[in-house]
Amino acid sequence: MTKIKNDLLLRALHKEEVERPPVWMMRQAGRYLPEYIRIKEKYDFFTRVQTPELACEITLQPVELVGVDAAIIFSDILVIPQAMGLEVLMEENKGPSLPKTIKTEQDIDALITTGVEESLHYVMQALALTKQALNGRVPLIGFAGAPWTIFCYMIEGKGSKTWDKAKQFAYTHPLLAQRLLQKITNITIDYLKAQVLAGADTVQVFDSWSGALGPNDFKLFAQPYLIQIADALQNDVPVILFPKGSWYALKDLSESNAAGLGIDWCIRPEMARSLTGNRITLQGNFDPAKLLAPIGEIKQAVKEMINSFGTRQYIANLGHGITPNVPVDHARAFVDAVKEYTPQKV
Ligand code: CP3
Repeated sequence: MTKIKNDLLLRALHKEEVERPPVWMMRQAGRYLPEYIRIKEKYDFFTRVQTPELACEITLQPVELVGVDAAIIFSDILVIPQAMGLEVLMEENKGPSLPKTIKTEQDIDALITTGVEESLHYVMQALALTKQALNGRVPLIGFAGAPWTIFCYMIEGKGSKTWDKAKQFAYTHPLLAQRLLQKITNITIDYLKAQVLAGADTVQVFDSWSGALGPNDFKLFAQPYLIQIADALQNDVPVILFPKGSWYALKDLSESNAAGLGIDWCIRPEMARSLTGNRITLQGNFDPAKLLAPIGEIKQAVKEMINSFGTRQYIANLGHGITPNVPVDHARAFVDAVKEYTPQKV
């Protein structure tokens, strides 16, 4: 096995000493990079996702062009509904849609929960190819959507500001909802384990829409499944959970078997630290829209962010995905500012 030369991310997740915090950006592959747009003009979304050579090329772009300390495999969270037998369409610049949503118990019972190693074989191939191409430069991150977030898309059939249909289903049929969430959890665990076998050094679970739930409902419909995933993977690789918006869950999740917790920009680093103690590595939490500010402002804000988190048990990142309108030199300034950081003398 090739030794990883820049293993800052893995050391931060293992609570080890680091020269400086590692840095990567959620949704760093794609969107804002002209080199990605050129590939996007030639191949549709799922062709890009399902062709290992293309996925590998896209995954490497931010490592080579922006200098991040980790690669995250180019794919999408909605490959899991596809593996479970649901059709997912991706309309360019409009977002995903599922023509047939989950409405009944029969719909849930018809879902496939096995054979993900075969149905999503192309993801594992993309990971293996990327691992080889990286040649130990930086760690490779695998990922999946969290059960609650996948549930949201399966019920609503498309993105939503409020996720009220998904919540209506959960609040009206809690047992059925839990049956569906458990099915998603089971296949997601198999999927993440297959990603690890294919070469992922760590995995992140994106609960992008968990913040739509209040604390009590999060405990019913999100937390148990995140915990099951962290438990199942803990002996394989470090697991990063990203329950966006669910700051109320940070204490509980810091006591789980996850190694890292992603946080968004709506919570102060000091508060996140006080809720999580030194139990877990924190990742975040730069407002992605601040990448649109002048470069001097970005650099200053990065310095303040690291001062607040400290350099240990910390991964510099955004508080959500980078948006398509970010100039590449601003993304690079964010990464450079972390690399240039020198601890404050007190
Ligand atoms: O870091 C990376 O970019 C790796 C690849 C990646 C994609 N999707 C590629 C993609 C990752 C990690 C995701 C995760 C994902 N997908 C999430 C969780 C993260 C988050 O942002 O909250 C969610 C909710 C999705 C579902 C999804 N996929 C949506 C809502 C959309 C449309 C809006 C958009 O542009 O994000 C997608 C499409 C998608 N997935 C694109 C990319 C690069 C954009 C389409 C394109 O470039 O052609």
